[in-house]
Formats: sequence, C-alpha cells, structure tokens
Amino acid sequence: MSKFMEWVDARFPATKMWEDHLSKYYAPKNFNFFYFFGSLALLVLVNQIVTGIWLTMSFEPSAEGAFASVEYIMRDVEYGWILRYLHSTGASAFFVVVYLHMFRGLLYGSYQKPRELVWIFGMLIYLVLMAEAFMGYLLPWGQMSYWGAQVIISLFGAIPVIGDDLTQWIRGDYLISGITLNRFFALHVIALPIVLLGLVVLHILALHEVGSNNPDGVDIKKFKDENGVPLDGIAFHPYYTVKDIVGVVVFLFVFCFVVFFFPEMGGYFLEKPNFEAANPFKTPEHIAPVWYFTPFYAILRAVPDKLLGVIAMGAAIAVLFVLPWLDRSPVKSMRYKGWMSKIWLVVFCISFVILGVLGVLAPTPGRTLLSQVCTFLYFAYFILMPFYTRMEKTKPVPERVTG
Ligand code: HEM
Repeated sequence: MSKFMEWVDARFPATKMWEDHLSKYYAPKNFNFFYFFGSLALLVLVNQIVTGIWLTMSFEPSAEGAFASVEYIMRDVEYGWILRYLHSTGASAFFVVVYLHMFRGLLYGSYQKPRELVWIFGMLIYLVLMAEAFMGYLLPWGQMSYWGAQVIISLFGAIPVIGDDLTQWIRGDYLISGITLNRFFALHVIALPIVLLGLVVLHILALHEVGSNNPDGVDIKKFKDENGVPLDGIAFHPYYTVKDIVGVVVFLFVFCFVVFFFPEMGGYFLEKPNFEAANPFKTPEHIAPVWYFTPFYAILRAVPDKLLGVIAMGAAIAVLFVLPWLDRSPVKSMRYKGWMSKIWLVVFCISFVILGVLGVLAPTPGRTLLSQVCTFLYFAYFILMPFYTRMEKTKPVPERVTG
C-alpha cells in the first residue's frame, strides 16, 4: 500500500491533501451542536445529487409528459417513490440545515475577519441553492409549480424599461410553457449543481486557509506546541470525522422518519395543489411558495408598491453579504458580546420566523401590518448593527478556549 501511495504522491498530492484537510487540519476542540450542520449540509448535498441523477433517468422534461412521468416514478419505477421523497424531503432538509448553519455563523461571529470570504462563498451558495430549489419546483408541473413560477418570474416585470423583455427572456415564451420547463430542467440538473459544487469547494478551501472559528470565538493559532500544533486544536480526522457520524446518525433518523411517515409534511414540503397537473386556465385560490422562501415572500408583500417590494426582497438577501462589515464588535462570539447584540439577534430570529409564517398565509390587513413591523425589525438588525456593536460593553474574552 505504501509503495502504491508513493507512486501516486509522486504524481498527485493525495497524501498532502489528506493531511492538509483532514489528518493534520487542526480544528478547535470545543465545537458544539451547531458545528454539525456544515457536514450535514454536505450529506444532504450528496443525497440531492445522487437521488437527482436517478430521478432524471425516468423524468420527462416536457409540458405534456412531466406530471405523468412523476406519477410513473411514484407508482411504477422500482423504488421510484423513495427516490422522489428522498429528493423532495432533501430540498427542505437542505434549507433547515443551511439556516441552522448560518445561525451558528451569526451566533459566534464566524463571518468576522478573517472569515469574510468563507461567509461570502456561503452566501453565494445560499443564492444558488434558492435558484436551484425554485427551478426544481417547476419540474413536477403541478398547479403550484406553474403558478408559483408565474408569480416569481412576473416580479421581474416590475423592473422599469427592461422588465417585460426580461420576463420573456427568462421564460423563453410569452407565458410559462414547456420551453420554460425545459430550460429550468437543464439549469436544475446540470448548470446550477456544477456551480454549487464549485462554490462548496471554494467555501471549504477558504475555511481551511484561515481555520475554523469556535463557540468562544478565540483564535486557536495563538498558542502552539513545539510542533506547531495549536494547543486547543485536535485533528479533524479522526476526532471530528467520528463526532460528525453521531450528527449524521441522528439526522438520518429524523430525515427517514419524515421521508417514510410525513413526506408531504402537511403541505409544507409538498404543497397540496401540486398533486394536480398544471393548468394555465385555472389559478389556485391561494399561491404561496414553499416554506423556505416565505420570509422573503412576506417582505415582498409587506411593501405596497411592487417595484419597491422587489427591491426590499432583494435587499433582505443582499444585506447578508455585507454582514462582516456591519459588525464592528471587538469580540466574535455572542458569549462575550453585550446585551444589545443578544437582544437584536433574538429580535431578528423571531421576525424571520414570523415573516416565514405570514408568507404562507393569505394576507389580511392585520397580517400585512405585522409583516411590515417584522420587515422593519429585520432590516433594523443589520442597519443598527454598526452602532450597537460599537456602543455596547463586551465581556472579557478568555485567551484559550473554555472547553
Ligand atoms: C451547500 C451548503 C453548504 C455546505 C455544504 C457548507 C459546508 C461547510 C462546512 C463543511 C463547514 C465546516 C464545518 C462547520 O463549521 O460546520 C462550513 C463552515 C462555515 N460555513 Fe458553510 N456550508 C454551506 C453553506 C453555507 C452558507 C449558506 C453560509 C452562510 C451564508 C455558510 C457559512 C459558513 C461559515 C461562516 C463557516 C465557518 C464557521 C466557523 O468556523 O465557525 N455556509 N461550511
């Protein structure tokens, strides 16, 4: 074996890569629950790619055949039903995992210097993931596929001057048609997954260049032993590869439970109107996107003007990109930040969840008002951040991690 590896290493840096990224990558020894979600995101990504490849084998990307081919997968293709449910549940699981992964970043200031690029690559992943999910949702060609896409694509029409041409360019037709379905299929199965995989590689390379943050937000590279190994670091392999298996097992229990017993999740993972084939002549009574988009959908609806609503929705995502430069705190982790940062993070999370709930429901005057308040708080968290992070009194940060 070692002779073989010598031969390989003389031609390809296999051992070097193994050591740099696993056996000699020293991660802080105090990772907690929130550090499971990076590896879980990788797991879900692999699940989506593998089940996606197999679904593609039996799916027909045409307006005439798409809906029937999904039914065929569910009823006739061997194990087709499980492939489909793994993929549809995987889409929601992806967002659950990624939202918790991002929350960890907010909690421990993982976006702060020197991890700005890790965060930016993460945000690009998030954008591509949303595009990927949106395009994937059109493919089963159900009522919600059709009308959800109709609502979202028509938003581009609000852009002055180029709006109408742009919507036509996206659809490739005067209305959503088989042409739109076909191009979304190409983007969903080929183009976006390639971009996503590339971004994940960049995300991890950027992280391994600077090293992982941790729940204390202290730099473990400050104290090293005589071999240059951080005193508070442990080798990623075997310590965290084994620890991550615990997360994987727990996650798979929950995931399989949903796949086998609640694949529709009461209409939240697979919406009820989507069990009916797309009908351009029949608008569903209530159009709502899948749950992971609803906070942004609620922000869109909170603004009475269509163009301003679109801008607010875009800004709600864009503002996350500049987060590393909004946080002026001298400390990273919420453990040592002051009470204002803590309260604002709680306010932000509650507003986000309320917006998510409101985005599912049909609007009423009361709900619109509430969504306006939550939109205001959502943005206030970011806009006021440079001020409250500088003003507040922080706690002293320990030199070494606290176990
Ligand atoms: C496909 C989606 C993603 C995958 C597979 C992924 C993967 C990973 C992995 C394996 C790690 C190291 C383990 C960990 O710290 O949990 C990590 C760290 C990190 N990720 Fe992601 N990630 C994804 C999406 C995102 C997104 C959307 C963001 C934020 C916008 C993000 C921000 C971060 C940050 C800031 C770190 C460093 C955390 C720290 O050191 O405390 N990631 N990611």
